[in-house]
Amino acid sequence: MITESLYHQVIADTPALKVVAAVAQQMETPTYVVGGFVRDLILGRKLKDIDIVCVGSGIQLAKTIGESIGAKPVVHKNFGTAALKIEGEEVEFVGARKESYRSNSRKPIVEDGNLADDQNRRDFTINALAISLNKDDFGQLLDPFGGMQSLEDKLIQTPLAPDETFSDDPLRIMRAIRFASQLSFDIEADTFNAIKEMKGRLEIVSQERITDELNKIILSPKPSYGFKLLFHSGVLAHVFPEMVKLQGVKVIDGKAHKDNFYHTLQVLDNVSEVTNDLWLRWAAILHDIAKPATQRFHKKAGWTFHGHEDLGARWVPRIFKQLKLPLNDKMKYVQKLVRLHLRPIALVSEKVTESAVRRLLFEAGDDIEDLMKLCKADITSKDHNRVRRYLSNFKKVEEKMIEVEEKDHLRNFKLPVTGELIMETFEIKPSRVVGDIKNEIKEAILEGTIENDYDQAFQLMLDLGQKRGLSRSGN
Ligand code: CTP
Repeated sequence: MITESLYHQVIADTPALKVVAAVAQQMETPTYVVGGFVRDLILGRKLKDIDIVCVGSGIQLAKTIGESIGAKPVVHKNFGTAALKIEGEEVEFVGARKESYRSNSRKPIVEDGNLADDQNRRDFTINALAISLNKDDFGQLLDPFGGMQSLEDKLIQTPLAPDETFSDDPLRIMRAIRFASQLSFDIEADTFNAIKEMKGRLEIVSQERITDELNKIILSPKPSYGFKLLFHSGVLAHVFPEMVKLQGVKVIDGKAHKDNFYHTLQVLDNVSEVTNDLWLRWAAILHDIAKPATQRFHKKAGWTFHGHEDLGARWVPRIFKQLKLPLNDKMKYVQKLVRLHLRPIALVSEKVTESAVRRLLFEAGDDIEDLMKLCKADITSKDHNRVRRYLSNFKKVEEKMIEVEEKDHLRNFKLPVTGELIMETFEIKPSRVVGDIKNEIKEAILEGTIENDYDQAFQLMLDLGQKRGLSRSGN
């Protein structure tokens, strides 16, 4: 946390705030910076958008500032808010409100209020801190609900009774866990109990908003913490029930399998240490998602999960659709990593053959490094010797990959002969035989029978055509 004089300095030196303060003081409108900006400023975190609250009309204040800098705010009349870009920063304006909700209706009765009313109806005490931009008390922190104390105690806590705060906007149930995960804070006991009791209210919140928060949890420094809060509060069962199914250990004949939920969280944390990429983190979450569905017990072999990587990959589009995640290349990327996640480990347990490495390079393409990151993260054994052995075997595979890639250039593999060339050469129309020839050439390259080279591929194409009774055009 930074000192009072330091944040006073930042407020005085931030160009956008200088502009807001000057106009607000001229208009004699009591105006404050509030919310995430103040929280992050005090915590010494990276600063994002600025939220301004004034006692009066936020829209009017934004318009007047807009006139003074020759810009027009974007006004949301329904919400009483306006957004304006000032000195390159996004600034959001709102008038202080006292908001209550009728018990028989979700429609808020919004009344103008003073600053404390407005702070009181915000989500958490750490987000209800305000700093004055007014002449007489410029830079002063206004903290009627113990936000500073919560920052010191590292606590997520609501300013009102938690059920009231969560009823106002049930998305705050997700936000509580998201902030706890992002900041490594605890959730205060009454607030956590209210989350447990009120999780069902998330039903009225759109999936997009829920998933937005889920993604922020996934992107936090140690996402397992957020997922444990989601799990223990019962929220995870509402928002992502498939993941809850991973939890639990069955024992038959004294043989237990590992708890795939906690294993998945460990893999997620491991991968998060080497990447901030949301989709690689999603691949970690989903890599074993089909284990419960494929779990079998064999008297001799014990527990098996045969085909969980293929089934899991097939589930990815449905899960993405349910969670309203994008159904684009990102989904395909996650699907690919889930499908291939056992392949490198299978390579290390066998003798590393060139053709197996070639096939993996061909299938993974440019995502091979990410796949290796996922596979290394997947080693969660507590046996240090075993981990060391795996990692050194992975190293051998990686060395082999570099060797094969330098020689064969398979990462962005394109067949050296195209379907068009096959059709032209043999004067044939599009047909199955074209696909068959292409496939055999591909297989020959991956097997290493011929090199990834035009002349060798062309010669093989001629041989394969001849074998099928096709004659070369012009002959
Ligand atoms: N807020 C709230 N209830 C919500 C959403 C927002 O009370 N459901 C208030 C909080 O005071 C919050 C402020 O509006 O600090 C701004 O919201 P938002 O931009 O969503 O969050 P930040 O706190 O700025 O944090 P971040 O940018 O990390 O999302």
